[in-house]
Amino acid sequence: MEYLYAQDNLSLGQMAARWVAREILACPNLVLGLPTGSTPIGMYQHLTRLAQEGLISFAQARTFNLDEYVGLTADHPQSYAFFMREHFWSKVDLPKGNGDIPRGDVSDLAAECRRYDDAIQSVGGIEVQILGLGPNGHIGFNEPSHNMEIHTHVVDLTAETIQANTRFFPGSEAVPRQAITMGVGSIMRAQRILLLVSGESKRDILTKTLYGPVSTAVPASILQLHTDLTVLTDIKI
Ligand code: GLP
Repeated sequence: MEYLYAQDNLSLGQMAARWVAREILACPNLVLGLPTGSTPIGMYQHLTRLAQEGLISFAQARTFNLDEYVGLTADHPQSYAFFMREHFWSKVDLPKGNGDIPRGDVSDLAAECRRYDDAIQSVGGIEVQILGLGPNGHIGFNEPSHNMEIHTHVVDLTAETIQANTRFFPGSEAVPRQAITMGVGSIMRAQRILLLVSGESKRDILTKTLYGPVSTAVPASILQLHTDLTVLTDIKI
């Protein structure tokens, strides 16, 4: 595991963008797994700047997002599809259709999960995966549970996650109760993983993730088993 320390959230965003920029420069047709949440916003801003200055290009890249809320259309302001359009897809030269995300508004969710896994497989799997860390140790929306799902699946969000994400909605009642998420299989099969963690409130869960027992109670702890994990954080542990 490589541990990179950022002074603050601002420099975390810059460092994450430089890390991704190196990957895309080395491999222009990179298959990149992408997160949402507040932590990666700075990374997207800096990547956008680098792309707009012509220093990097996503013209040949493919991207796959980790997750999406069930029941929200892609134009709902709190959907992750909307987030991605706002922060990345509409700002860089990634061709339309090269950025994929599970659709949470379809009637056949099981078919959508299969479609998503097939789409990832069709390009040979995720090469570089960027992750955030949920306050309860989730990655994507792989929540603490008694088991771990390998494939893309529908998940019931925990009360803690609903509470944590209420800040983005008018109230907790408006937060979707389910999501579609990439499974830990697609994440762990990535050749390289960058885990972004920002803010003192995540100190305990980051410590459990990196140094606690590998357990389904802290899904991110499985990252200890990955052979090429970089942790970029502004928390000194
Ligand atoms: C959501 C997403 C996760 C993300 C997490 C942390 O629940 N499903 O992929 O990592 O939030 O978000 P934040 O960066 O806002 O703390």
